[in-house]
Amino acid sequence: MEKAVRPAVLSFAIALAFGSWTASVLAQGDAKRGEYLAKAGGCVACHTEESKDAVPFAGGRALKTTFGTFYGPNITPHPQAGIGRWTEADFVRAMRFGVRPDGAHYYPAFPYPSFSRITDDDLRDLWAFLRTLAPSSRANQAHDLEFPFRWRFLVPIWKWLFFTPGPFAVDGKASSPVNRGAYLVQALGHCSECHTPRNFLGGPERDRFLAGGKGPDGKRVPNLTPARLKKWSDAELKEFLLTGLTPDGDAASGLMDEIIRNTTSQLTPGDLAALIAYLRSLPPLAEEPR
Ligand code: HEC
Ligand code: HEC
Repeated sequence: MEKAVRPAVLSFAIALAFGSWTASVLAQGDAKRGEYLAKAGGCVACHTEESKDAVPFAGGRALKTTFGTFYGPNITPHPQAGIGRWTEADFVRAMRFGVRPDGAHYYPAFPYPSFSRITDDDLRDLWAFLRTLAPSSRANQAHDLEFPFRWRFLVPIWKWLFFTPGPFAVDGKASSPVNRGAYLVQALGHCSECHTPRNFLGGPERDRFLAGGKGPDGKRVPNLTPARLKKWSDAELKEFLLTGLTPDGDAASGLMDEIIRNTTSQLTPGDLAALIAYLRSLPPLAEEPR
């Protein structure tokens, strides 16, 4: 080879290698970040059976609602039992639009109305994390729903009435911690799935955002707007979201205890402070009469 050609070939090869390396880094999500986002999204709770030797994310969790019992499916990369044959695009479509790879619609017991707000980058990182899980062959079971909710083909009507897909939009008038907190609450944390009251069709009452009412299991869920939470200092609120202990020495029960264990206690100090700052910025809404 000519002396002058060699460096040219070499630098071309380096450029090629570097180019494909950066392309793969950009195209592939960051699994480590995805692991944190999965905590912020509380995925493990609904996708893991309630038993001591349960395999995380292998499905089987019974979710009792006023419409019947849903079972969180296996989301490990097993090709038959889980979502091992899915592409990243299938995952993004499920999370953003609540649509299954075969075109069927998911029930909103899967909180995609909130997850739809997750950014493209975060979805990619979540997907990268799910790909790192050990495949589990645990078989899914059918949901056990009341008539007529067992008709999956009715779900598009619900979506048409109550579901607006699309990623979180930054509020230019709010500070960056408040925006970060809004993202954690509205998108990943899906707090409104329980803390926003619903009408008889299970549609969220948008003008009562986070104002409390009946939760998914029909039990009372408290108001998260300042009308109620002003009675707690930031330190008390932080203590509750880390440990489940209220200022009166009570412990959080049931559904919230799980959110604290899997989600809010796992947030970085910065994210937890942002979440609290956002709750403080909400318009105060009075409790609904019982
Ligand atoms: C409140 C419970 C709940 C939480 C939290 C939850 N899911 Fe699910 N998820 C479900 C249910 C229920 C379904 C099945 C819905 C259906 O059959 O229509 C589901 C379905 C899915 C599916 C489709 C699986 C398939 O086989 O079609 C994926 C993917 C998924 N969830 C990912 C996630 C991720 C990622 C997170 C965390 C960011 C998460 N889920 C958090 C309840 C939940
Ligand atoms: C699966 C349903 C569910 C989800 C999702 C949920 N919560 Fe809760 N939350 C509850 C229930 C139920 C209670 C009442 C617990 C009790 O009385 O022991 C509660 C209580 C609380 C309280 C105590 C309020 C008070 O005045 O006593 C706070 C604060 C709170 N939740 C914040 C959050 C935040 C922040 C999120 C999102 C990261 C969230 N919750 C998501 C069900 C939920």
